Amino acid sequence: MIRGILVVSLIGFLAWAYHTTVPPPPKICGSPGGPPITGPRIKLRDGRHLAYVEHGLPKHLAKHKIVFFHGFGSCRHDVVIAENLSQETVEELGIYIVSFDRAGYGESDPNPKRTIKSLAMDTEELADQLGLGSKFYVVGYSMGGHTVWSCLRYIPHRLAGATLIAPVINYWWPGFPRNLSTKAYNLQLPQDQWALRVAHYTPWLTYWWNTQKLFPASAVAAGHPQIFSTQDIQLISKVAGRQAQKSQVLQQGEFESNHRDMMIGFGSWEFDPMDLRNPFPDGEGTVHIWQGDEDRLVPVILQRYIANKLPWIQYHELPGSGHFFPVLDGMSESILKALLLRNVETSI
Ligand SMILES: *[C@@H]1O[C@H](CO)[C@@H](O)[C@H](O)[C@H]1NC(C)=O
Repeated sequence: MIRGILVVSLIGFLAWAYHTTVPPPPKICGSPGGPPITGPRIKLRDGRHLAYVEHGLPKHLAKHKIVFFHGFGSCRHDVVIAENLSQETVEELGIYIVSFDRAGYGESDPNPKRTIKSLAMDTEELADQLGLGSKFYVVGYSMGGHTVWSCLRYIPHRLAGATLIAPVINYWWPGFPRNLSTKAYNLQLPQDQWALRVAHYTPWLTYWWNTQKLFPASAVAAGHPQIFSTQDIQLISKVAGRQAQKSQVLQQGEFESNHRDMMIGFGSWEFDPMDLRNPFPDGEGTVHIWQGDEDRLVPVILQRYIANKLPWIQYHELPGSGHFFPVLDGMSESILKALLLRNVETSI
């Protein structure tokens, strides 16, 4: 009798525990009961849609075509380099920018098969369907940096240049000396260390970890004040004010957007960015990293290590800056001029 009750209780507990680890199905945009489709989308070869938004000059008039990748918990409307750009600069430089919802965010269909490689493949298909030509620029902010690394690895022949702005680092990239990545990892809040550990070692628990209430989940996902530097706190109203379409970001569910970003971004990569070769050996283009030395989300000591290992990357370190420096006055212009104008010394 007692054994029977115990067995039944155990089965019940396991069923409950299993249930809490399985995310609910995503609410697909345009499906019955799902969020509406409000902007243009392309259809990919595998049937998924990608939603995009265009800025700057019409593409047939533009000299430089740029594909922009948003960060974690953001969407296609969060184009840090387009927001603060004057029309004068757009015309002077001849810029067209397209930004798209990475799979699962905003109005782009989820991709349960998402990998680091699929980030570059989605980019290439979007560029081809929009007719951006044989070469285009790529710019990624924060977690969008992973897509830039993917493009440098898988479609370097399609690139005219690339910029990584405060690109998020994976502590498990094998090129880091163990003592250095451990030191940087320990600078993160304990709850973020746990969120990263779960995403890396037990990705199937990512949904449960980030929705359970027993332990504090990721401070980054929650936008906890402790993750911001002094300059970030001054800039936060500018960043928050920008996000008019905030409600779109996670509308299909946080699993296929934020959680899958964590699982693939902090998982085991198919390559190490520190092993990449210069995609422009003849100087036909340039690659840049911009990093604040007070960034609390992306440790500067690891970014310096990458920059040192890849001398073909132009490394711009901004003293006193945190993670939100792209919204500083004039910053987008400096970032774009460094990328688009050859032999221009940009000093900040
Ligand atoms: C890591 O170890 C190397 C070699 O032992 C040493 O040169 C370096 O200073 C150490 N770095 C840190 C951050 O402790």
